[in-house]
Amino acid sequence: MTDIAYRPEGPHDAPLIDALIDRAFGPGRHAKAADRLRENNSLLPDLSFTAWEGERLVGSVRMWPVAIGGAPVVFLGPIAVEAQLRKHRIGQTLVERACEAAAAAGWSAVLLVGDAPYFERVGFSAAPAKGVVMPGPVDQRRVLLKALRDGGADGLAGMVTG
Ligand SMILES: CC(C)(COP(=O)(O)OP(=O)(O)OC[C@H]1O[C@@H](n2cnc3c(N)ncnc32)[C@H](O)[C@@H]1OP(=O)(O)O)[C@@H](O)C(=O)NCCC(=O)NCCS
Repeated sequence: MTDIAYRPEGPHDAPLIDALIDRAFGPGRHAKAADRLRENNSLLPDLSFTAWEGERLVGSVRMWPVAIGGAPVVFLGPIAVEAQLRKHRIGQTLVERACEAAAAAGWSAVLLVGDAPYFERVGFSAAPAKGVVMPGPVDQRRVLLKALRDGGADGLAGMVTG
């Protein structure tokens, strides 16, 4: 595989990212609870990362400001990697870059709704998210938190608002 370059999402990347997400998730797939947190919200471009094979966008992860019971945290998602390039740790690297940038910017924790077996590999866990209430129906086992510093996810509970 050729080298992959990682960089924060640029102002002109959105159309390529939207197309990648459509390809990765298929048309008409909507995670309603997560969508609600992204509607009328503003992406954090410095914390959202893109992966490039030359000039070709091959991966994206996006980060959004939300709050859990009023406490600010970052919401991660969606994440997608081009199908032909999966299993080369591009997804893992995107999550790591996004979390490192969020930690450096002073955020205390990252929230997401996703598959625990995948995200546990990069430090997320359902246990600290037991009291987190998403704004719509979700399988609570898919609500995952990662602390960005010691104790960063302690005591987070209540409704998630965008
Ligand atoms: C999920 C996704 C971003 C992973 O990207 P990637 O670059 O292949 O990820 P990595 O290379 O870091 O990790 C790959 C490993 O995770 C595993 N994996 C991928 N998706 C998984 C999932 N949903 N649950 C459990 N394990 C998963 C792969 O089987 C692989 O395992 P291996 O290392 O034992 O071979 C990519 O598969 C994708 O775009 N999927 C479609 C969109 C999607 O479902 N996104 C949200 C996931 S909740």
